[in-house]
Amino acid sequence: MMSAVRRNLDAYWMPFTANRDFKKEPRVITGASGHYYTTDDGSKLYDTFSGLWTSGLGHCHPKIVEAVQKQVATLDYCMTFQVTNDKAVALADRVTNMAPGGMKKCFFTNSGSESVDTALKIALGYHRARGEGNRTRLIGRERGYHGVNFGGMSVGGMVPNRKVFSANLIPGVDHIRHTLDIEHNAFTRGQPAWGAHLADDLERLCGLHDGSNIAAVIVEPVAGSTGVLPPPVGYLERLREICDKHGILLIFDEVIAAFGRLARPFGAQRFGVTPDIITTAKGLTNGVIPMGAVLVRDSIYDAFMQAPEHMIELFHGYTYSGHPVAAAAGLATMDVYDEEGTFEQAAELEQPFEELLHSFADHKHVIDVRNFGLMGAIEMAPREGAPGARGGEAHKRCFWDENLVIRNGMDVLQFSPFLNSKPDEMQKSFESLRNVLDAIE
Ligand SMILES: Cc1ncc(COP(=O)(O)O)c(C=O)c1O
Repeated sequence: MMSAVRRNLDAYWMPFTANRDFKKEPRVITGASGHYYTTDDGSKLYDTFSGLWTSGLGHCHPKIVEAVQKQVATLDYCMTFQVTNDKAVALADRVTNMAPGGMKKCFFTNSGSESVDTALKIALGYHRARGEGNRTRLIGRERGYHGVNFGGMSVGGMVPNRKVFSANLIPGVDHIRHTLDIEHNAFTRGQPAWGAHLADDLERLCGLHDGSNIAAVIVEPVAGSTGVLPPPVGYLERLREICDKHGILLIFDEVIAAFGRLARPFGAQRFGVTPDIITTAKGLTNGVIPMGAVLVRDSIYDAFMQAPEHMIELFHGYTYSGHPVAAAAGLATMDVYDEEGTFEQAAELEQPFEELLHSFADHKHVIDVRNFGLMGAIEMAPREGAPGARGGEAHKRCFWDENLVIRNGMDVLQFSPFLNSKPDEMQKSFESLRNVLDAIE
């Protein structure tokens, strides 16, 4: 019998989904526990993507569930302009204490996209407050993903996301080159040795515009949604040097990288490169309640604190910035990371994960395998005249034939294992994937 959800699907315009194709054969999840989803027909599926890079601790973690239940019955909401709540205050303190040195201020948002737009606005406001209002240009990177709002889309470099809005992207934005070069770096494990010089593209743009006109550069330390592009050795260091030389703020978009995906609280700590601003979301609440946070250096916050004390310093914020239930989920998430030693668990999984991924290196469809931390990608050659078809079929076959949820971006299969994955389950999931890749054309 057709379930009610399938009958009612018509009204739902799904995000980042081929709606017509999906609705012919809907994949509907109705429950989750730990590392598995359940579907409306009662199947149990292993989740290889930890939600959408969100749920590193697994789904419905009892401690987070309990904290949310308690909070929603205690303080469901309060205005966060002009008054605040105990949980938002505690979470800002907690998260900044985990951050790289000097980044002790935290602004809450509700998503990665909002974190990015907030960070860009803070960067522009900072320069203006310091009397350098000429610094208005923003630099992103080709293939970068910084969400779908106008700011993030403009500094982002994912062509399909930008194409329709090309004439409406915000002005004054340039992009440095992306770092993927399969010719030089195919099947690299971890950071590629070749490519630090690609950061010099920023120096080129400083030459073109004069560095004194550039406000900020935003990059993902490991580009994620475009298909996992780890930075070449020395690349992030070089970006930092060029930013310092020209007085440009460096923003790391760590919506994926933060909170254990790179076995540290922040990717910046893993790479030993400290940006000026970090954007986060996803793992901040283990995906349980939407929430993002922007962390900034104290000196950036201080620059805003010059107007008369009764005046608002930054005319920016969202109705749900610092939402108490989201903040309670965030606090419980941080507790679990500490109590369960999640970041250490993640570190131990890196080697087995890398081996499993690279065991696909000689597969007939595969042209590259890339990984860093618990982020991985298997790139398949596109079918003649039908880019994306092979990846899409792999996703569907995994779901229907192997009880496995995988994510594909076109023909790149992406993997974001749980930070507390069980090695035997992870191995089994890659065996199931192999069955599918062997079977498809
Ligand atoms: C690096 C990065 N920035 C921003 C975003 C946008 O986050 P959201 O979808 O929560 O708006 C994402 C989402 O995947 C991301 O990976």
